[in-house]
Amino acid sequence: MGKLQDQVAIITGGASGIGAATARLFVQEGAKVVLVDLNEEKGKAMEQELKSLSAEALFVKADITSEEDVTNIYKQTIDTFGKVDILFNNAGIGRTLPSHELEYSEWRKTVNVDLDGVFLVARGAIREMLKTGGGTIVNTASMYGWVGAPGNAAYNAAKAGVINLTRSLGLEYADQNIRVNALCPGYIDTPIIPAEIKQELAQATPMKRLGQAEEMAKAVLFMASDDSAFMTGNSLIVDGGFTAQ
Ligand SMILES: NC(=O)c1ccc[n+]([C@@H]2O[C@H](COP(=O)([O-])OP(=O)(O)OC[C@H]3O[C@@H](n4cnc5c(N)ncnc54)[C@H](O)[C@@H]3O)[C@@H](O)[C@H]2O)c1
Repeated sequence: MGKLQDQVAIITGGASGIGAATARLFVQEGAKVVLVDLNEEKGKAMEQELKSLSAEALFVKADITSEEDVTNIYKQTIDTFGKVDILFNNAGIGRTLPSHELEYSEWRKTVNVDLDGVFLVARGAIREMLKTGGGTIVNTASMYGWVGAPGNAAYNAAKAGVINLTRSLGLEYADQNIRVNALCPGYIDTPIIPAEIKQELAQATPMKRLGQAEEMAKAVLFMASDDSAFMTGNSLIVDGGFTAQ
């Protein structure tokens, strides 16, 4: 029996990087997975990959900043699988620019996806979980929710927001069997990191390498499963030592 046997897990940003690695691990552990992403081509390819492993999987194209799209994620999930046990609330974007050059529209876009979208998708999950007696939510924040860095003000502010959103939701539903925690990755080797700066970021990491998406997936599995049954409102930093400096 897998750690997530017959549980239904929604994974936003499931078409790529950390979300895709987590989808692969979740199906190995017996979960039925709903992949949510803006990228239809990669999302459908992931759905096929999971089905070829005899897993139950569904891809839903959605923009997490659209209330209508988010409503549709839950409608399709309930129509197909009947419930929501786990949300890995992980879709996000990054934008690196000096703050004095950052247009307000770009600030808004980053905060809209990385914070507002996380709230909208979490709210949808909580509504379903309250009906069925509970569940677990793992939000993807970042080590940059804990420490600052030049050139990423909107992203860093949004990710700090996710950490305190996680505390707040964790407390709000602690006695209703809904646990809410956050993953705070360091530099991870996924398409969000431009190839030309990978070496520099690896050198900036105490372990002198980038993290792997599969290493994030294991931390997500811990927080999504009963292995972390007494943990809520918390954040797990998995960053090769970066924030210990
Ligand atoms: N890779 C890193 O170094 C790193 C570090 C810290 C935090 N993170 C966070 O991890 C999460 C996953 O990132 P990743 O590294 O796997 O990157 P990625 O680019 O491989 O995956 C992100 C996915 O999110 C999707 N997405 C973006 N905006 C969306 C929207 N509005 N609606 C639906 N889907 C959307 C993208 O299409 C993409 O498939 C993000 O929240 C990111 O901020 C990544």
